[in-house]
Amino acid sequence: MFAAVPRLLPLLLLQTFLSPPATLAANILAFMPMPLKSHFGGFQPMFEELARRGHNVTVVSSFPLANRSVPNYTDVDVTPVQGLPDIDVMQLININFLMTVTNRWFFANLLSAQMEHANLIDFLRSEDNSFDLVIVESFLQEYTVAIGHKYNAPVVNLSPGMVWVSISRWLHLPSTFSYVPDCCIGMTDDMSFTDRLKNTIVGFVQMFVEDYLYIPMMKAKMSKHFTYVGSESRPTLEQMLNNVSLTLMNAYHAVGVCRPYLQGVVEVGGMHLKEPKPLPKDLQDYIDSASNGVIYFSFGSIVNLSNLPKEKLSSFLNAISRLKQKVIIKWVPDKSIKLPQNVKVGSWLPQNDILAHPNVKLFITHGGLHSIEEAVYNEKPVIGIPFFADQISNMRRVEKIGYGKLITFDQLTEESFGNAVEEVISNPAFKDKAMIQSQVFRDQPMKPLDRAIYWIEYVIRNGGAQYLKAGSIGLNTAQYFLFDVTLFLLLSIAIFAWLGYCGIVKVSSKFKAD
Ligand SMILES: *[C@@H]1O[C@H](CO)[C@@H](O)[C@H](O)[C@H]1NC(C)=O
Ligand SMILES: *[C@@H]1O[C@H](CO)[C@@H](O)[C@H](O)[C@H]1NC(C)=O
Ligand SMILES: *[C@@H]1O[C@H](CO)[C@@H](O)[C@H](O)[C@H]1NC(C)=O
Ligand SMILES: *[C@@H]1O[C@H](CO)[C@@H](O)[C@H](O)[C@H]1NC(C)=O
Ligand SMILES: *[C@@H]1O[C@H](CO)[C@@H](O)[C@H](O)[C@H]1NC(C)=O
Repeated sequence: MFAAVPRLLPLLLLQTFLSPPATLAANILAFMPMPLKSHFGGFQPMFEELARRGHNVTVVSSFPLANRSVPNYTDVDVTPVQGLPDIDVMQLININFLMTVTNRWFFANLLSAQMEHANLIDFLRSEDNSFDLVIVESFLQEYTVAIGHKYNAPVVNLSPGMVWVSISRWLHLPSTFSYVPDCCIGMTDDMSFTDRLKNTIVGFVQMFVEDYLYIPMMKAKMSKHFTYVGSESRPTLEQMLNNVSLTLMNAYHAVGVCRPYLQGVVEVGGMHLKEPKPLPKDLQDYIDSASNGVIYFSFGSIVNLSNLPKEKLSSFLNAISRLKQKVIIKWVPDKSIKLPQNVKVGSWLPQNDILAHPNVKLFITHGGLHSIEEAVYNEKPVIGIPFFADQISNMRRVEKIGYGKLITFDQLTEESFGNAVEEVISNPAFKDKAMIQSQVFRDQPMKPLDRAIYWIEYVIRNGGAQYLKAGSIGLNTAQYFLFDVTLFLLLSIAIFAWLGYCGIVKVSSKFKAD
């Protein structure tokens, strides 16, 4: 009997080594005042899961839980009084690659308006709250990191996509410009010379120009909006950004880019994906009864079909009217529009549950990250008409892997759209690639949501887990890129070469003299 113990012992040790100790219930603040639904939506399931696991979660956002309450989940509602912002996507199509970066900076103004919301002012003024951990989304609202200082709590940073250079530089993540693309200039990791040139320019702007044009604006806004007892002795914005404990990214390499990260940067893309729920009866019947299958069409939360130029809208509707499939569109058309017979519309539709239905053959999308993840999860081929931000890159990746086609807005005609739909539905290669991609995406050691919770609790258990950070944080740019060492080595070589040369000259002149 005792003989068994030595053999069991390593197993027992392994057990304690692998199972983390329980984390005490913590007070957690999620501070996401920026009114961008797609950014919030990717992380909201994580806030809810933290509450479900016994933490007391306070969520500052423009998207309070509607018509339901979750125990230990408290909303601080900062929905803009004038409603969510209207973004004119037609203005964003085809902007110059350099402008994608400079345009981004002006998103900061969206947040300034939020910071003047009465509920937010009250919340920041209050001295009654205390938090063990704060979660912020630093995308174009870097100064919200100061909330960590206010509560003297470790900070978890959320990135709405793969971290780009502006974020990477605070964490000292290598973002090699030759293959790590910027989020929003429409590139994959497979770049031509021109792509690499553009990516390098955009990278340099974020590394060196941002400090002069953008960071000062952030600092001014921080001084204006973030005053509280103790804010006088706050570290600089740069120091606070360097000090973030953990970064969770709404990205996953199997549907994105394979590149190096530090241990404190964790991919959690796909947290919003759930096993499908039964569809409402009308949708279920509609899809079940489509003998030639169904196409699902949605342009996400920002692009509204009604705002597209008339001729583009007719291209869609004319091409659709000639299809034998039924088409479900997320859209509330004007009364004046005559919809084709085979179309059903809805203002809000359970997208993931619809895509899970086996009779849905194709997803027509704007190429937003969540939509691509849902397509992959449900093994559906896609046709993407991207508009802005990361949508073009996402769709180029889809094309590269082979589970869909990209149509640029300029190329969009009744014919090009109709042909693409025909091709993707009739050629089984697209579906096959979607199935392989789905399997790769699902084959993870831990569900993305569990992984996110594990790391958040890890930071709480380990007092901010300072050791997840790069050892290079204390170095300046010259030291980090070894400019100083390189200079020293070059000088040394030059001096030795000079001395050697002098020696040779001396010896040879001696020979001549002799
Ligand atoms: C939980 O958070 C709410 C809202 O921030 C707060 O009012 C409450 O006191 C907290 N509960 C505990 C047990 O800390
Ligand atoms: C969570 O909610 C339950 C029930 O509402 C309550 O008993 C518990 O104290 C709450 N936990 C925290 C940390 O607030
Ligand atoms: C919440 O309830 C209101 C009133 O019952 C309803 O008008 C609204 O559509 C509901 N919202 C959601 C998201 O279900
Ligand atoms: C799109 O715009 C139209 C007209 O302005 C509006 O009626 C509709 O509610 C908007 N949203 C959707 C999802 O169609
Ligand atoms: C860094 O974060 C820790 C908590 O994780 C905090 O104690 C420390 O004061 C912070 N330092 C700076 C410079 O912000």
